[in-house]
Amino acid sequence: MKIAVLGGTGLIGSQVVKLLHAHETVSLSPSNGVDLLTGEGLDAGLKGADVVVNLTNSPTFDEASPAFFQATMDTMLAAAKHAGVGHAVVLSIVGVDQVPDLAYYRAKVLQEDILKAGPVPYSIVRVTQFYEFVNAILSWTTDGDTVRLPATPVQPMASADVAAAVASVASGAPLQGTRNYAGPEVFTLDELGRIAVAGSRKVVVDPTAGMFGAVKGDVLTGPAGSVLSATTFREWLALTS
Ligand SMILES: NC(=O)c1ccc[n+]([C@@H]2O[C@H](COP(=O)([O-])OP(=O)(O)OC[C@H]3O[C@@H](n4cnc5c(N)ncnc54)[C@H](OP(=O)(O)O)[C@@H]3O)[C@@H](O)[C@H]2O)c1
Repeated sequence: MKIAVLGGTGLIGSQVVKLLHAHETVSLSPSNGVDLLTGEGLDAGLKGADVVVNLTNSPTFDEASPAFFQATMDTMLAAAKHAGVGHAVVLSIVGVDQVPDLAYYRAKVLQEDILKAGPVPYSIVRVTQFYEFVNAILSWTTDGDTVRLPATPVQPMASADVAAAVASVASGAPLQGTRNYAGPEVFTLDELGRIAVAGSRKVVVDPTAGMFGAVKGDVLTGPAGSVLSATTFREWLALTS
């Protein structure tokens, strides 16, 4: 089976390419001459592909992100149809349709909707926040030695477990639907922050702080039926620090 991984140089994409080594796998991204915004290199990259996996990301998380996902999905689906690709996989976020106040989440819902309405059989893999993303979340609301975080419930997971989920779905038949994956433990974001900073900074609860201040309730935790991954946050910290 030939599998084309768009965004195959990214955090998730590079791991997915490795996991799919038993297949004929190609990594397509601007750094190797394929641009989903312009279409450059795409027809050649998708030639003979059975599956296309889209692991690209918008350069910003702001009001510009919907335009990125609209343009890149339109380009991808037109090229995939032209190449006769039989399965398109997109990586999305658990609960993404429940946070309308965030431009980036609206952009990811748009990406899902374009995929569902498109001409190629599809799968949507929704996952929770990556452990690798926690430092970025902390950096947004750090002031001196204090970090402000809302008490939003989250159920994060390791990017390696995300990549395994994507690789498994990409090697199977199209779901024509969505599968949710989540980490093994639920934390409030301030609890997670306290574990991550390990006493080096003070973490205070601020319901409005940062991007996750816009989240209402526990919509970012895995819904019923989610597939739970094994790696805990503390295990991941021990492996990476
Ligand atoms: N962060 C989280 O916790 C989280 C949670 C759930 C889902 N997700 C989703 O996971 C996906 C992958 O995230 P990631 O962290 O692996 O992303 P990443 O490391 O930022 O990688 C982004 C990839 O997109 C490629 N790319 C950027 N612009 C492109 C374009 N115009 N045409 C083709 N490729 C382009 C990049 O290529 P170059 O290397 O060549 O620039 C890179 O390979 C995202 O869609 C995100 O929404 C993230």
